[in-house]
Parts: sequence; C-alpha cells; structure tokens
Amino acid sequence: MNYYIGIDLGTSSCKGIIADKTGKIHGSHTVKYDVRYPEPGFSEQDPEDWLRAAREIIDVLSEGRKDDVAGVAVAGQMHGLVMLGENDEVIRPAILWNDGRSAKQTDYLNSLDVLPELTGNIAFAGFTAPKILWVRDNEPENFAKTRKICLPKDYVAYKLSGVFSSEYSDAAGMLLLDTKNKKWSPKMCSICGISEDMLPALYESYEITGKLKEEFGLPNAYLCAGAGDNAGAAVGTNTLHEGDCSISLGTSGTVFLPCDNFPAASGTALHNFCHANGRFHMMGCILSASSCDEWWTKRILDTGFDRFTTEQAAKTGVYFLPYMMGERCPHNDVNARGAFIGLTPSTTREDMSLALCEGVAYALRDCVEAGGVKIKKATLSGGAAKSVLWQTVVANVLGADIYVTETEQGPSFGAALLAMTGCGEYATVEEAAGATVKKRLAVKSDPSLAAAYNRGYASFKKLYPALKNFFREEAKASR
Ligand code: XUL
Repeated sequence: MNYYIGIDLGTSSCKGIIADKTGKIHGSHTVKYDVRYPEPGFSEQDPEDWLRAAREIIDVLSEGRKDDVAGVAVAGQMHGLVMLGENDEVIRPAILWNDGRSAKQTDYLNSLDVLPELTGNIAFAGFTAPKILWVRDNEPENFAKTRKICLPKDYVAYKLSGVFSSEYSDAAGMLLLDTKNKKWSPKMCSICGISEDMLPALYESYEITGKLKEEFGLPNAYLCAGAGDNAGAAVGTNTLHEGDCSISLGTSGTVFLPCDNFPAASGTALHNFCHANGRFHMMGCILSASSCDEWWTKRILDTGFDRFTTEQAAKTGVYFLPYMMGERCPHNDVNARGAFIGLTPSTTREDMSLALCEGVAYALRDCVEAGGVKIKKATLSGGAAKSVLWQTVVANVLGADIYVTETEQGPSFGAALLAMTGCGEYATVEEAAGATVKKRLAVKSDPSLAAAYNRGYASFKKLYPALKNFFREEAKASR
C-alpha cells in the first residue's frame, strides 16, 4: 500500500499525519517548539527547530513502512522570513507572520500606492516584504550576506529534497508575487532591494518538486510543493469551490473564501492569494485566536476551563479585544493590544471566558464584514474547532451553520492530499478531497442567539476606534 505523509509546520508545534489514498490515517505525531518574543511585538523562531521536528515526524511515521511512503508534502505558517547565506546557512532567526516590528516599512510600502496593482494586496507588517526592508534598514550586515530568501515550510522542503522551491498559495503572502499572473514581480523585488534569483522556483501546490534526500531513508518518496497552512487546511476541509468558507482557529484565526478567478477587489483589508487547487481565494486573518484561549486558560487561570456556556451569550457586559499581537485584518495596526472591558465586582471567570471566546468570534466577523461577504455556512478547523462552545459562539456571531470534518482535519491532512494528487492517486485536488473528506453539521445558527450577538457585535465594533489613539500613544511612550 502507498502511504502519504502530510506535515503542518505550525507556530507552536509541527504536526504530521500518515494516510493512505482513502484518507485513512495510520498515525500522527506532534513535536512542540518555542516562539521567542525578544522585544514586545517581535516574534521569532529558529529554523533548526522546524527541521528537527520534521525529521522526527518523518522517522516516527514511516517506521516499518519506509519503502511504501510514496509522497510527502509540507503545509506551514505563512509569511515568515528565512534568510540564507552563501553556504545556505541561516543568517538570523526567522521573523514570523505575527511579528509587528516592520510598521514603518509597511507604511512606506503602502505609501507607494502600487502594491494592489503589482501584487493584488496591500502591505501588512506580518507579510514578508516589509520584513525584508526592516532587515535592510536595521541589520545591513545580515542583509548584505543574504543569498536566498524563503518561507518557513519552503526552508524545510529545501532541506528535505535539496530543491529550492515554493508554491503560489504561500508565495502570494510574501508580497513579492504578481498574484494574478503567478510570477515573481520584478518591480517588487527591486522595491525590496533583492534580486529575483534569490527567490525559489514556483510550482502549483500539488506538483512534484523532487525526491526526498537519501538521508531520510524513504527511497520511493516524492516531495510535493505543499501549501500555506490556510490553503492546506482548506484542502483538508474540502473548501475548494466558490461559495465555500472555511474558518480556522489556530494560533491565528482565518476566514478563507475560495474564488474561481482572481478577486476583483484588491487593495482591501482582505488578502487576495492563490489557492492550492490552482485557483484563488480571499482571506481575513486575525493574529490571535486559539492563542488567546491558551493564554487565558494556561497562563492566567492555570487550568483547563470549560465550565462556561452560551446561556449568558452577549449578556455578561464584558468584552474582550483579542489583539494580543496587534491586529492584521481589518485594522492593520501593530500597536493594538488585548483588553477586557466592562468588568464589575460581580464578573465571574465564566463571564470572562465567554467574553474571550466572543471577542475572537467578533474579530472574525470584522473580517467578514470588511470583505463585504455573506456567509451562510462554514467548516471549522483548528484547535478550538472540537469545542461545542466555540462552534456555537462562532455560528451565532457569524449567523452561519458550522460544519466540522468527521475525521482528521487541518493543514497536515490537506498536505497529504496534495501529495496524493501529485503522485497520481487522484487527477485533481478536488477529486482527492471529494473522495476523502467527510463533513457533518456541528451547530446550526440559532436566530435568537444570533440576534443577541448582533447587538453584542454592535458594541464590540465601537471599542477599537475608541482605543486606537490610546494604543498608538502607549506604543510611542514605550519606545
Ligand atoms: C495567514 C497568517 C496565519 C499564519 C499562521 O495570513 O498569517 O494564518 O499562516 O500559521
């Protein structure tokens, strides 16, 4: 039997699964690693940690069936900047997607007014191009040493196969790609002071890029190009057709909307990127989703905490702003910060826990409204997707029915499906997902809860504008 390994290079951990062509999972393995925050708003990781994790995952999952692994693909956290020198050495720690240091460079790029035309997108501090400019401005010696620039999962793929490659779904988030025409933009390269030959060769997500190097002990395994984690999750939840929607609640939260053609509305707060099936998608991204829950339950409450219910939906009078790392969509504000608002002496842990969950869901609704789209149903994936409470709150804040997948979900499964397609088990990504992904309705939106959340959202929407200047002044004072 042929096996396929899908790897999800996440922010808090790397997860791998091994599946056969029916989608049956034969094993999974996760390796955790750290994110470093060397200064407020900075977020970095050591690419060597990713490699160690990927190697361990491949070793564990292929044990006893090394000859039968036919394909491997990696999906991963998007936008991170990895810089390699003359001998492919890592020049500095990777600067991650939720890093806010490049506000000045982001403003500069947006002031040029040509980005929507060249890339289909505006600049956000998390994207790769502003980070390249930040290194140029602040670490000229590192910039001068740089010979190759790539994304996190493409660095891992390079080390797995020796082929320096990327694919369109992740490359679009670098802000160096002419997204509509699927080629690197020479103009963007020159704006960033780099040359196109520093960038990897481009593939479709499901294409084979090479074979695994001998040292990994999988003599018959091909490497497929993989995907950005959100496009990977969309494959793993069969969110491939216009009108579908997938919502992922990982460290970040995203609303992912496939499009048959390149979205007409470029230059908005939503991203216009390529999809892993050869088409396109729009996406809204909030920087802190499940990570707010992690912070609250593990760091603050110091306990798992699931005793709260929606009985108090939108009635606690407590609001939570999830801007723990600043916010991407729609505010594009690196200075924004998390906040609880509306506390009284009778506020309970349950109230605050529910408010936190509601705040994340309201922030996702901000993305949906910024995109001017209506969502009737969505497939939920990521850490919080298994929680009925999160499903219920998201369903009713968005007024959409929430589906979940019956079996495995997320970017690692999507990556395995891309590998199956590349290796010829299926003719298209749609065929692979159609044959393997089974979904069920988890929560139907309830009109009375949805009405309560419409009122709650109207109040939530007033909070960021009221605090925006305060956030800016606080950031200035702390510099
Ligand atoms: C998407 C984004 C995040 C990361 C998280 O634009 O920045 O979803 O990909 O892994």
